Amino acid sequence: MDEKKAGRVAVLLSGRGSNFQALYQDSLAIDSNYRIVLVVSDNADAPGLSFAREYGLQTLLLEPGAFPDRRSFNQRLLGELAAVNTELICLAGFMRILGRRVVGAYAGRILNIHPALLPAFPGLHAQRQALDYGVKYSGCTVHFVDRGMDSGPIVLQQCVEVFDNDDEDSLSRRILEQEHRLFPRAVRLFFSGSLALDGRRVRIR
Ligand code: GRF
Repeated sequence: MDEKKAGRVAVLLSGRGSNFQALYQDSLAIDSNYRIVLVVSDNADAPGLSFAREYGLQTLLLEPGAFPDRRSFNQRLLGELAAVNTELICLAGFMRILGRRVVGAYAGRILNIHPALLPAFPGLHAQRQALDYGVKYSGCTVHFVDRGMDSGPIVLQQCVEVFDNDDEDSLSRRILEQEHRLFPRAVRLFFSGSLALDGRRVRIR
């Protein structure tokens, strides 16, 4: 990959960081078109943050409690994103709603991964919601982030069958495997200029 042409990704996470790791591995592939220039965590204990440090990536711990209000938190976040020339923000298990100014500054340049086929089962515990509802298929969604909760235009989705003997763990595990494929694919499509936003529809050229 030509380093100068590689898309510049900031990953925001709060926990385990398996989607971040999938993105990181994909970014190292010879035919990848992006690299991770910053990993931000709002949680000091996030395993994802430790992995990022081990990989030698630039990391930033932004603990909300250290800021007087949401506005100053988001202000600092914006400053740090700009300082590394972020072109795309990937939310990989980031448990906070991004501030309006961040979403505005990066409109059409923030992707989130969600463990359900949106618009079904937004919010927390999507896999449990799917089981409780009794759907036969669930899956995962990569979507652009707007100001709502899991509500932005859908980029890619992958269906996962729900088996009779599934519990939250087993279904989450099978969905997660697909998440790890879907998110890198979406990021590559973004940086190859293949995603065209047409109202709510994302056309893949
Ligand atoms: C994933 O299931 C993702 O879809 C959701 O949060 C979880 C994060 O997992 N938004 P991980 O931290 O990437 O392992």
